[in-house]
Amino acid sequence: MTEKTAKLTIGDESWDFPVKAGTLGPEVVDIGALYKNTDRFTFDPGYTSTASCESDITFIDGDKGVLLHRGYPIEQLAEHGDFIETCYLLLYGELPTKEQNEDFHSRITYHTMVHEQMNRFFTGFRRDAHPMAIMCGVVGALSAFYHDSTDISDPHQRMVASLRMIAKMPTIAAMAYKYHIGQPFVYPRNELDYASNFLHMCFSVPCEEYKVNPVLARAMDRIFILHADHEQNASTSTVRLAGSSGANPFACIAAGIACLWGPAHGGANEAALNMLAEIGTADRIPEFIDRAKDKDDPFRLMGFGHRVYKNYDPRAKIMQKTTHEVLSELGIKDDPMLEVAMELEKIALTDEYFIEKKLYPNIDFYSGITLKALGFPTNMFTVLFALARTVGWIAQWKEMIEDPKQKIGRPRQLYTGATQRDYIAVEDR
Ligand code: SDX
Repeated sequence: MTEKTAKLTIGDESWDFPVKAGTLGPEVVDIGALYKNTDRFTFDPGYTSTASCESDITFIDGDKGVLLHRGYPIEQLAEHGDFIETCYLLLYGELPTKEQNEDFHSRITYHTMVHEQMNRFFTGFRRDAHPMAIMCGVVGALSAFYHDSTDISDPHQRMVASLRMIAKMPTIAAMAYKYHIGQPFVYPRNELDYASNFLHMCFSVPCEEYKVNPVLARAMDRIFILHADHEQNASTSTVRLAGSSGANPFACIAAGIACLWGPAHGGANEAALNMLAEIGTADRIPEFIDRAKDKDDPFRLMGFGHRVYKNYDPRAKIMQKTTHEVLSELGIKDDPMLEVAMELEKIALTDEYFIEKKLYPNIDFYSGITLKALGFPTNMFTVLFALARTVGWIAQWKEMIEDPKQKIGRPRQLYTGATQRDYIAVEDR
């Protein structure tokens, strides 16, 4: 079959570039030879039209609101699976057999403790430090403790580092929370499942038995599934770029955490809840909708809009259902924030501006209400996002490292600065 090509014509010159098709989604124009052949770069700040890599892990159809992990729809994984099984799927490409699942669950369980000396890291932070600041520091420091899994050329060390990251993130996240509220750290419990263990490490205290509510643990596990991976989002691209230089996986994940913290990305769940609190009551919604539409006002509706989804974020639907489940399990009736959120969604989805710009609720719109009901303070919301996204970062990092064509990422630029000029002595300026 003749190869499909794209023709670029500039003036009286033209060049052909190969067009490649994947299994799903848009074709790509391979412009790898553009600079060599035309002495020109492409220009795409924000990468709105740029595919940075080839990947088999996650597929998103933004127009149809579809999200597949290794081909499986997020709705089915969230309904029938659990987070650790989803981790296996993202890392190895197939759903595990019963034996593989049991083996993987136990390997994760026996990596949940952190080196005892890491406890001292926390005391270096002020108690009121934002938990995401603590996560950036402590996760980055993991490479100082686990030298035996930082050689990225060794498949065994890559696998051990991957398991360690997935297993230790809940422990570190719970330690960040406990340190922040001045309570003692709680060790992981091997008899508990991943989500129950995390809730136990966050909410139990030495003075009494803490029974994890299985309905809340299931909801927590589903929230982890919904946040696990999402194609080449900003933080995943950060992890890939950091990893492309050969940096160790712990340092790459720390870079991903730093990027996720931004309010335009993973920080939106914290910002969305703060926005709902600021709106306060449904009668103030029109004022905020007007501000979101005002070009001169930097305010945006947090938890709304998405670079890829121009339809409803499928995760937001499942998150909304989980919110109702958690609130009813906790006997929370008429949660004022949920009322404002549902009214805000209703108004926004019928407003011309939001329809024209295809702005729908994203995963961050309802997650904050659920996490607050589970007992987490707002500044822990992005920590939970980072905890869940660690498997996605690691799976994408692993795919990049194992790609024989992998090379260091090094974009170019359109230079618009001063042309060359000579130095002027200070007395002549
Ligand atoms: C996540 O990439 C991922 O997959 C991310 C994520 C993941 O799982 O990794 O899905 C997680 O980050 C979800 C997004 C969370 N962020 C927020 O909820 C913050 C609020 N949303 C916006 O900041 C914005 O929608 C972005 C950042 C999410 C997307 O921005 P884009 O794709 O760069 O789009 P844009 O900013 O160019 O907006 C297009 C238009 C603009 O108007 P015009 O300049 O064309 O006139 O829509 C407007 C924007 O002003 N717009 C909004 C809006 N989002 C976009 N207007 C009001 N409120 C908003 N929320």
